Amino acid sequence: MGVLPNKMLHGTAQRLTETFAALLAALLVIVMLGGLAWTPPAQAEDELNCVLCHKFRGLSRIDENGRFRLFYINENLFMKGPHKRIMCMDCHRDIKKIPHDPAEKVDCTVECHLTEPSGKQNFTHAPVKEILDASVHSRYDKEGNLKDHQEDYPGCKDCHEQPLYRPLSFFKGKSAGISRRGLSRCKTCHQTGDFAEDFYSHVTSRLQKTRESREIVEVCAKCHADPAFRERHELDDVVTSYKETFHGKAVTFGSDETADCLDCHVVYGESVHSIESHTEPTASTYKNNIAATCRNEECHVNAGEGIASYQVHTDYSNAEKYPMQYYMLKFFQGLMAAVLYFFVIIIFLELLRRLFPNFSFIKEKPTDATSVLQNSSAEKGV
Ligand code: HEC
Ligand code: HEC
Ligand code: HEC
Ligand code: HEC
Ligand code: HEC
Ligand code: HEC
Repeated sequence: MGVLPNKMLHGTAQRLTETFAALLAALLVIVMLGGLAWTPPAQAEDELNCVLCHKFRGLSRIDENGRFRLFYINENLFMKGPHKRIMCMDCHRDIKKIPHDPAEKVDCTVECHLTEPSGKQNFTHAPVKEILDASVHSRYDKEGNLKDHQEDYPGCKDCHEQPLYRPLSFFKGKSAGISRRGLSRCKTCHQTGDFAEDFYSHVTSRLQKTRESREIVEVCAKCHADPAFRERHELDDVVTSYKETFHGKAVTFGSDETADCLDCHVVYGESVHSIESHTEPTASTYKNNIAATCRNEECHVNAGEGIASYQVHTDYSNAEKYPMQYYMLKFFQGLMAAVLYFFVIIIFLELLRRLFPNFSFIKEKPTDATSVLQNSSAEKGV
């Protein structure tokens, strides 16, 4: 039988907004009806005990914009992610009391209470923001003025959800050193608590891409595949053209070895957040750098300069930008049609002949032989 702690039911009633009160009541009913036993959260560093309420799957509502919002936090999943040691309130800073008011948006670049070991300073994602602000995805232009269409520029949450730690063996099958067995070696020395598990999964999951190439393409497609977005920024339909190439097809069918958007648009070895326009001389896709990008040690290592002439984002319907490809396509479409229709006509005529073997446009007179036969049978009176 679930009971909410007393301090939450006393003294604060006046301060509850109406919706909140209603929701709280609903929640209480769920708790009572469900007979769900309240167990203190196992390990989340959660001073105000946020999961007390947020562990209920039904905690949701339709917001002002008609969007379904789920406020349920799966603590199990949360504890498998990199933020597990961060308190809810470290990110949701405006929530200081329970019950709480509507929450403000989380700022991903604030400092948290964790110390990053190499620099021994409080950890923050601010350096990522600096890189992002220097990239083509920055909301500011080179003069520091706000660009047009602010809502089109990606913030952290447009590309990221709470990730999970995944052991290397999850993807690559079990091999020496990166499996349970590998973990057991850490445990030989680091025996206390979850220390070994934590650092093992921290390191192994950082050694691989968090997302499959296919997911990366989806992230970029959210904006770059949207026709209205492309028109606002005068950009080509790069997602469609990419998907028509070998790279795109292989990735669509599940390959992780083939180039996705990031492999080409990030200078090899740099942060994935540093994407630049191909008109910038420092960009990986700038005309003089393309060959080097293709030749990085994981891709076309031995390719010559000529590889740079390969056009990745060919738009076959754009005669101005890609005249060669446009007219080639038209030529082959014509050729195909000609060959196809030629044989279709032949087959049709052949079919006619089979269905009507004796049909002819020329009315022939009966030959002598047939008239003799007809005459003789008539004479016999058959
Ligand atoms: C007494 C139960 C309760 C507790 C404890 C609680 N919440 Fe909530 N929380 C709710 C309810 C109910 C909602 C949905 C409110 C609504 O419909 O807007 C909610 C909504 C939220 C939202 C989304 C609100 C928005 O406007 O976007 C956030 C974020 C949130 N809670 C964070 C927290 C954090 C962090 C804590 C711990 C410090 C916490 N909550 C503790 C009941 C609770
Ligand atoms: C690393 C930072 C971080 C931590 C730690 C964190 N959150 Fe959040 N939370 C976010 C972000 C970012 C969002 C997205 C909405 C926003 O931008 O505010 C969010 C959204 C939410 C929402 C609303 C979902 C919605 O659809 O609007 C709830 C509820 C919530 N968090 C509860 C919690 C609870 C409970 C905890 C502790 C177990 C927690 N959060 C810990 C960053 C965090
Ligand atoms: C345009 C999309 C995009 C935006 C915007 C973005 N990221 Fe990323 N971020 C990525 C991708 C893609 C990865 C690569 C990791 C993966 O495989 O998913 C990544 C990786 C990371 C990593 C892991 C380190 C690494 O290189 O693997 C962190 C931390 C991170 N991002 C934080 C942020 C923060 C903080 C912001 C906001 C200031 C932000 N990101 C904005 C796409 C984005
Ligand atoms: C032979 C014993 C031994 C094994 C096996 C071992 N460690 Fe360690 N580890 C240590 C010792 C001793 C230290 C502290 C000394 C130092 O800082 O060099 C340490 C330090 C660390 C630290 C740094 C802690 C800090 O706060 O500075 C991490 C992280 C770590 N080990 C993770 C691992 C992981 C993960 C594995 C398994 C892949 C592992 N260790 C295997 C003995 C071991
Ligand atoms: C939230 C929307 C959004 C997402 C998600 C997004 N972008 Fe962008 N992207 C933009 C905007 C806005 C521009 C700027 C266009 C301009 O300069 O007007 C842009 C520009 C670019 C450019 C430069 C185009 C040029 O002018 O040469 C490249 C390259 C690019 N993005 C790649 C990516 C990749 C790769 C991803 C996925 C990791 C991605 N984008 C995800 C919004 C987005
Ligand atoms: C094989 C390498 C490669 C891959 C994969 C790739 N690109 Fe490109 N991309 C380029 C090159 C090179 C250019 C510049 C020359 C050009 O337009 O062909 C470019 C140009 C662009 C532009 C600017 C187009 C314009 O209108 O000026 C955008 C935006 C873009 N890419 C986004 C993406 C996205 C999103 C993906 C993934 C769906 C992707 N690219 C995949 C190499 C690549």
